[in-house]
Amino acid sequence: MVEPLKVGLAGLGTVGSAVVRMLGQSRDALTLRAGRPIELVAYASKDPPKDKGIDLGKAKKVSDPVALAKDPGIDVFVELMGGEGDPAKAAVEAALGQGRPVITANKALIAKHGVALAKLAEKNNAAFSFEAAVAGGIPVVKTLREGLGGARITRVYGILNGTCNYILTRMYKERLSFAACLKEAQRLGYAEADPSFDIGGFDTAHKLAILTSLAFGSEVDSEAIYVEGIETLSLADLEAADELGYRVKLLGVAQRTETGIEQRVHPTMVPKGSVIAEIDGVLNAVAIDSDMLGLTLVGPGAGGPATSSAVVADLVDLASGRRSLPFGRPAASLSKPKRAPMQRHEGGYYIRLAAVDRPGTMAIIAKGMAGENISLESIVQRHPGLRPHGGDDPKSAEGPAPVILITYATTEDAVRRALAAVEREGVLAEKPQVIRIEKS
Ligand code: NDP
Ligand code: HSE
Repeated sequence: MVEPLKVGLAGLGTVGSAVVRMLGQSRDALTLRAGRPIELVAYASKDPPKDKGIDLGKAKKVSDPVALAKDPGIDVFVELMGGEGDPAKAAVEAALGQGRPVITANKALIAKHGVALAKLAEKNNAAFSFEAAVAGGIPVVKTLREGLGGARITRVYGILNGTCNYILTRMYKERLSFAACLKEAQRLGYAEADPSFDIGGFDTAHKLAILTSLAFGSEVDSEAIYVEGIETLSLADLEAADELGYRVKLLGVAQRTETGIEQRVHPTMVPKGSVIAEIDGVLNAVAIDSDMLGLTLVGPGAGGPATSSAVVADLVDLASGRRSLPFGRPAASLSKPKRAPMQRHEGGYYIRLAAVDRPGTMAIIAKGMAGENISLESIVQRHPGLRPHGGDDPKSAEGPAPVILITYATTEDAVRRALAAVEREGVLAEKPQVIRIEKS
């Protein structure tokens, strides 16, 4: 009789419950793939499991996740509680410190402590895997770590947060409110325990930091990331983007530039018809450009079933003895990242201004742009109180006039200075809305 892989799992929320369900439902297939059974023998959980239908069998309950991580009766510790601090961090350190393999979906933890934890794992010859931490069910960690080992990657970017993509899709397609879409994403198990991580762009930043390290062989550097979330986007922006031939997505982008690695997270206009523009709902997409090839991976980025697929894939690798270093190379050999400042970012911009409707306003806006050598691809002034599709709003008939500018390629610095100059003239009724454009 082959010895099973004995699993200790902490956290029976959306992902933890789905992992237990999958281990039960796919037991025979997993045994064949792994060459031995994968068995849940112990778990730590504050509450009863989120999914009431799961079968915990004879697994024993341990009250303290750190005690579970140290339990000699388990072969692998699976951390699915979340959070960059304790108990997740303490438990992962306890397991790795004893040479016990760890599997986690916790991107916040990896983004903050990934390199230190990888060093601890390597020192103690313990496997440390986190496929589920980036883009849910998409096997992008493995792709970067192993599949693209021969390529020199120049850019990695994409939609990395299911909750935000779900919100933006439903707002745009069904004209639902931001709040209603977020509530539904929470109900479906897509959102983080604190959803401000999703809508504020921080969850995307955590994932981008991990991808950047895997793609460029540099230490995880989440503090270098420029982050903007989707909270300030309005339906007016999504509709204006549509009219101009774009869709709005929250993108994470990491690319090599002449000055270093640029890492940024922000709402982005992408041309309709491009692969990224067509990714809707909870789907994620990760595009990878390299000297040898380019490819895009697409799949569900959040939710119990998709994420448990990635966690269980890590368990199968471990059970069958397949092993990789956490970041695909010794953690001590990861380079110190050279940061490219956001101010130097170059690209096109969508700018929506709420302009005071009086003579001379357009001239002031044009002068502000010209003063920074910003060329405009298009400029549209709408009637005050008219929404982009022409629906009259009598209440705002006397309000500011929306002015929408699309710039040719320019720099972040130039746009910020130009807008500051226009704001100083007192012709804007609201803070300008700026959305960067990614052409390909
Ligand atoms: P949930 O909030 O649904 O589940 C986390 C569970 O851990 C909760 O049941 C929580 O209990 C429990 N927990 C917290 N502290 C302890 C503790 N001290 N002892 C025992 N149990 C504890 O989160 P998810 O399942 O959604 O996420 C888990 C991890 O997976 C996170 O790192 C998340 O970022 C990541 N992830 C989530 C995805 C998703 O789609 N949901 C996708 C990819 C990754 P309580 O509720 O009582 O606090
Ligand atoms: N809250 C995350 C998301 C979960 O919506 O993408 C998957 O990492």
